[in-house]
Amino acid sequence: MGRAATRVAGMGTTIFAEMSALAARTGSVNLGQGFPDVDGPPEVITAAVDALEHGANQYAPGLGVPALRAAVAAHQQRHYGIELDPDREVLVTTGCTEAIAAAILGLVDPGDEVVVLEPYYDSYPAMIEFAGGVRRPVTLRAPDFALDAEELRAAVSPRTRMILLNNPHNPTGRVLTREELQAVADVAIEHDLLVVTDEVYEHLTFDGRAHLPMATLPGMAERTLTLSSAGKSYSFTGWKVGWATGPADLVAATMGAKQWLTYTSGAPLQPAVAVALDEHPDFPVRLAGELQQGRDRLVSGLREAGLTAYSPEGTYFATTDARELGWTSGLEFCLALSERAGVVAIPMQVFHDSPAGDTLVRWAFCKRTEVLDEAVRRVTAADLTVG
Ligand SMILES: Cc1ncc(COP(=O)(O)O)c(C=O)c1O
Repeated sequence: MGRAATRVAGMGTTIFAEMSALAARTGSVNLGQGFPDVDGPPEVITAAVDALEHGANQYAPGLGVPALRAAVAAHQQRHYGIELDPDREVLVTTGCTEAIAAAILGLVDPGDEVVVLEPYYDSYPAMIEFAGGVRRPVTLRAPDFALDAEELRAAVSPRTRMILLNNPHNPTGRVLTREELQAVADVAIEHDLLVVTDEVYEHLTFDGRAHLPMATLPGMAERTLTLSSAGKSYSFTGWKVGWATGPADLVAATMGAKQWLTYTSGAPLQPAVAVALDEHPDFPVRLAGELQQGRDRLVSGLREAGLTAYSPEGTYFATTDARELGWTSGLEFCLALSERAGVVAIPMQVFHDSPAGDTLVRWAFCKRTEVLDEAVRRVTAADLTVG
């Protein structure tokens, strides 16, 4: 990194790249990075092939192709009753990752404070730093990872510009309740804050729990920018088609940054994602059912192997705590897990400023049954106590 700018050099490599490299080196079962090992609907792949073969190969419009903007607006209407003007209130991005980057760069000035749930998705602190902002974490703590309204209030100052929410929450798997979301809304309205909410796991909730978008709470639509993508809902994480929706001025500010990042996103994949949203609304429902089974398989297997495991309410991820096995560092535990058991998971301390995540470890269960069973078999056979 000798020639890198300090803004990049200071941040190191993402933990996912490091742990995936570790998995490759040690021949481990990789439950680190969150991607499924079964693709989304074949008809959607066919739609992408059709688009490639029939001329969707030049720059798409900056805001996104009209069919996808209309499909995103229809999706928000169908699922949540949110009305959007697809020409002014929907922006297509290169994955939710670009939506996060563009929203933060477009809405946060140097010195602005951003309240963010901790543990955080690792692009949030990176982008807040790129924007010159300051993060103010509010910690979700094991075992229930509830949002403490008092802690949220205490994190707000006169310099706060934005609350950056993630619900359903990666990595804890928490799905916030109406009361918790109302606490966020109360604070946002009282202090006139923007809310940017990353809802990429909106459809991946379990046990009949419904996802409640922040923008549907009274008084919140006008101050909330909602981000999502096709990656998780349709098992196409490699496609990187995402979107930002909300008030026209917030969408325009996000576009203001996006135009200098990518200007436009992949043309042939956009009509295909429109097909996914319009014609395959049941796919995410089925996927959530399968993920719930994967969750149960992994969580019960890890518990039987002697780990303290928390059963998540949504997302791809379960959390364990290595403390009971004598560890004081989740990273040390993960290195031993790879060496002794041949399984890779992600230490959650890297997603925290506080020590709350020091011994927590994230395991992805968005994998085929055989893969989960093999991981559990390996964990069960290994001695994972400290030392
Ligand atoms: C909370 C969260 N936001 C955003 C993303 C990235 O989404 P995309 O692949 O659409 O860029 C992920 C992927 O892991 C995520 O977990």
